Amino acid sequence: MRRFFRSVGTRLSLALLLVVAAALGIVYLAVVPSLESRLENTRVAQLTVATRRLVPEASDASDTGLWGEFVDTAAHDVDARVMIFQTSSVPGGFSVGSPIADSSGGRSSQTEPTNDPIATRALQSGDLEHGFVREAEIRSAEAAVPIDRGAFVLLLRDSLESQLGSVHLVQRRVLLSAGVGLVLALLLGYGGAWIFARRIRRLERAADRIAGGDFDEPVRDSGGDELGDLAVAFERMRVRLAQLDDARREFVANASHELRTPLFSLAGFLELLDDEDLDEPTKLEFLDSMREQVGRLTKLASDLLDLSRLDAGRLTVEREPVDLRALGEELAEEFAPTAAASGHELELEPADAAVALGDELRTLQIGRILVENALRHTPPGTPVRVRALTREGRAVLEVEDEGPGIPAERQEQLFERFFRLEGTRASGSGLGLAIARQLAQLMDGTVTVESAPGRTVFTLELHAAARVEREREPAGTLD
Ligand SMILES: Nc1ncnc2c1ncn2[C@@H]1O[C@H](COP(=O)(O)OP(=O)(O)OP(=O)(O)O)[C@@H](O)[C@H]1O
Ligand SMILES: [Mg+2]
Repeated sequence: MRRFFRSVGTRLSLALLLVVAAALGIVYLAVVPSLESRLENTRVAQLTVATRRLVPEASDASDTGLWGEFVDTAAHDVDARVMIFQTSSVPGGFSVGSPIADSSGGRSSQTEPTNDPIATRALQSGDLEHGFVREAEIRSAEAAVPIDRGAFVLLLRDSLESQLGSVHLVQRRVLLSAGVGLVLALLLGYGGAWIFARRIRRLERAADRIAGGDFDEPVRDSGGDELGDLAVAFERMRVRLAQLDDARREFVANASHELRTPLFSLAGFLELLDDEDLDEPTKLEFLDSMREQVGRLTKLASDLLDLSRLDAGRLTVEREPVDLRALGEELAEEFAPTAAASGHELELEPADAAVALGDELRTLQIGRILVENALRHTPPGTPVRVRALTREGRAVLEVEDEGPGIPAERQEQLFERFFRLEGTRASGSGLGLAIARQLAQLMDGTVTVESAPGRTVFTLELHAAARVEREREPAGTLD
């Protein structure tokens, strides 16, 4: 029962019902009473005019005493009941008593007025009076005037039944329309709500399916209204979640694969080391290889940790001035032994001051990723250049190499997780550039690549600190 009252259908029907009832109520209250009083007032005004018109004839009749003839003719003329009262004085005033002439001729359906209030009022005021009286449940309009200096009173009376009849007709019609309107409101409310409820339930089922991890069936709704828009939003969510789910599966599969390779290798070396017949140089060689695998595992673990922090939005970056020229020097110094080992020339190009606004450690991390790539993915003997500069108000760190280059159609893929170009040395796991780009974005910067055979440049662009600080200065300060 509670569910019934909380359903959209019931609520919509009730709302429609209320609206229709209120609208018809307002129509009823605005039309019926004013129509009623208007008709009544018109009739009483007509009687007043007629009464005034009849005064001279009534005075003549008073002279001749032919009251009967007068009332009949007058009644015929004015289409109302005409009565003449003879007045008598009673203690404390006058009384109009019963009529001495009555156009209705005492017909049984019509009551004979005694002490009619309007006639009495006319007698008391000595002037024409009009108003309404109710007798035996019949409402009538009346106009009365004293004749012959108050010896008689002329009274015109007309029942308002016919006028009220039209009002009652209007009343009945309004009530009938109200009844039909209310039934229609109920049916429309339920019908409309049923259609909506069906679409809502379909969306609900789709949401449940998605919540249950089933992203296969598309969410569809043909209506172009708000529910249709909601379905489109649901569909976008389904597609996005499906992509994220795929990415998650792929990530887990790739990560486990990447972890397994060095672990298998370590296990193999451990077994080999168990062999007591191994000579010392071979043992040392194995230990070196093991150290390399442990290094690879450690780097992989810290890369995965960075990525998970980035995904969870838990990695925060500082906003501080970072001197990119000094950072370039640090990189050149740090990678000098690696470059020497791989036979590369690592050069630091002279540069003007380039101060970025970012996180020093994270900027250094991006620089390391780029320099390490340039040393690792290019043939020995080729030079690698590191440059810091300011370009169009941005602080830039560039790492340029003279390797074979990256095909244009692959350049964007480099930034995907676990992506490695075919023929790349297997030691990397393909996470470096993905991390570099996400870190740069976190600092409102970008990492881009430009490459042609013989020249590849990776560029890190960040806000320039000086410019940002200048923009932040409050307006109107003196320099
Ligand atoms: N300077 C470069 N010249 C040519 N190829 C490059 C260069 N830098 C990156 N690449 C290609 O892009 C791929 C992705 O680079 P990324 O740094 O993301 O991963 P990785 O170096 O393979 O592994 P790691 O996660 O250890 O950095 C590399 O595997 C390599 O194929
Ligand atoms: Mg790399």
